[in-house]
Amino acid sequence: MLSFKNWDNKTWISSTKYIQSFNNFLLKQKKLTKHSKFLDIGCGRGKIMGSLSSKLKLINKPIGIDVENHKDFDKRIIFKKTNAIKYLRNNKKKFDLILIKQTIHLFNLKDIKKILSYSYASLEVGGIILILTLDTKSNEIPTFCLMKQKLKQSFIRDNFIWKKLLQLDIKKKITKFNFKVNIKKNIYSKMIKQRYISTLLKFSPLQISDGIKEVDLKYKKNISFKDKLKCIIFLKV
Ligand SMILES: C[S@@+](CC[C@H](N)C(=O)[O-])C[C@H]1O[C@@H](n2cnc3c(N)ncnc32)[C@H](O)[C@@H]1O
Repeated sequence: MLSFKNWDNKTWISSTKYIQSFNNFLLKQKKLTKHSKFLDIGCGRGKIMGSLSSKLKLINKPIGIDVENHKDFDKRIIFKKTNAIKYLRNNKKKFDLILIKQTIHLFNLKDIKKILSYSYASLEVGGIILILTLDTKSNEIPTFCLMKQKLKQSFIRDNFIWKKLLQLDIKKKITKFNFKVNIKKNIYSKMIKQRYISTLLKFSPLQISDGIKEVDLKYKKNISFKDKLKCIIFLKV
């Protein structure tokens, strides 16, 4: 399987500023208290839920599940190394908030339907499922030519998934989460080298090194852009 070890490994996604900003976004979507129960599907290192746990002084540790065994996962969460569907199918717990952030595109449509149906069944009444995915219309991710091309191709599938989600007969709301990134070009090149985004995972070492050369020519020393995500929120009534 393609590895996601470097997704939130010392990137802006793991920065305190990003995590705080994302948690403020979550707090705007639903009234949450120290009694709230959280599940993060495809949690990576679980820093978002870890930080939220401290902020709200949660009584129940949030549960984070991921197929990747991150030894340095955030210890403020209960980390389970397992497949999302396997976990959800056997789950008996109820949650107030289920987060599926930048992960849904990794599943096929049949599995997405299963994830949604099991997640919905795992919600408390009034609970929400948040699905966040890259904004395909106006994203500003810095790219090199081949990366841009592959990203564009993946957006066709992302849009198809989005359309299917919109068609689901569940009460829903659409919103967005944008984060202003300022990053040094050499750090961003390092992230490309570490294949920080799924688009880069299948690239050959030569394609990566050529891409980094291209980025070096294309961008100034400091790169600024908005990391734009679109979000669909399903509400259990
Ligand atoms: C792009 S990362 C997003 C991580 C995190 N949600 C965030 O936004 O920072 C996608 C995550 O989904 C995990 N993942 C992929 N397939 C999965 C599956 N079948 N079950 C659970 N997690 C999975 C990957 O290992 C990876 O950590």
